[in-house]
Amino acid sequence: MTQSASSTDIEPKTSGDYLRASARASAEKASDTQDIHAGHTVIDTATGGEADAAVSEQRVQQIFGAIAKKYDRFNAASSFGLYKRWLRATVAAANLTPESDLLDLAGGTGDVSYTAAKTNPPAHIQLTDFVPEMLDVARDRARQGATCGVPTDFDVVDAQDIPYADDSYDAVTMAYGIRNIPDREQALAETYRVLKPGGTFACLEFSTPPNALWRGLYHIYLKVMIPFWGKVFTGQTKGFVYLADSIRAFPDQETYAAMLREAGFKDVTWKNYAGGIVAVHTGRK
Ligand SMILES: C[S@@+](CC[C@H](N)C(=O)[O-])C[C@H]1O[C@@H](n2cnc3c(N)ncnc32)[C@H](O)[C@@H]1O
Repeated sequence: MTQSASSTDIEPKTSGDYLRASARASAEKASDTQDIHAGHTVIDTATGGEADAAVSEQRVQQIFGAIAKKYDRFNAASSFGLYKRWLRATVAAANLTPESDLLDLAGGTGDVSYTAAKTNPPAHIQLTDFVPEMLDVARDRARQGATCGVPTDFDVVDAQDIPYADDSYDAVTMAYGIRNIPDREQALAETYRVLKPGGTFACLEFSTPPNALWRGLYHIYLKVMIPFWGKVFTGQTKGFVYLADSIRAFPDQETYAAMLREAGFKDVTWKNYAGGIVAVHTGRK
């Protein structure tokens, strides 16, 4: 386990505290500072075209920082409640045991972590995200009992630069995170690095429905309804236009599976849900 893992770490913290902690972690890592993106294809996650990583990273901070408090209601409504089923499928794919130490990357407000705590409780959860405001909501939920007693720690973490030791987690989960990351090669390399040999990575992401008719209908839903739900639940559309754009720009199931294999994962496979609107990819170290 990492850090203060023996108790649930839900002391009140402000975004400022998180940012200072994050800055400290960065400073501590400064000795091995190098360009983590060197030699990789770095993209604008809204278009898939090459762009400086800062373009996507700043947008993620702005969008998720602004919608954090309303994010959960939007998810439930826009997926017609299917969202929870997909979370349970992701957790089931992670092969958790009561002894597992689970790292949840891009964990946001805690949906994957708290589904794990409820349905397949591991020994410890490290719940991480890039945006402090999302973790603030996750902490609030923990105070209301969402951890179901599973020791849970929270950390601001960039999945492209994970501040944990090699071979330290039995399972890593990521739901709707990889699509938002400009250097996916780096994020997958880091995920692989922190997994223990034999450990499982389970990754839930929007994907490409193989059936052309279903795909067409889905793309209409993305273009019209997602910004509509965004407006209804959060009062803004910008983030939700981005959501639709980034889904369209994300690689299909086979292409993403090839990226996992390229990162070193074995036994890479995926399962489609809702006709391929989402897919859970898994790989083993
Ligand atoms: C759509 S939300 C998903 C949150 C959560 N996994 C869930 O299922 O509800 C995407 C999350 O990815 C996070 N994120 C984006 N870029 C990231 C990065 N480079 N490292 C870690 N998290 C990142 C965002 O802050 C946001 O909380």
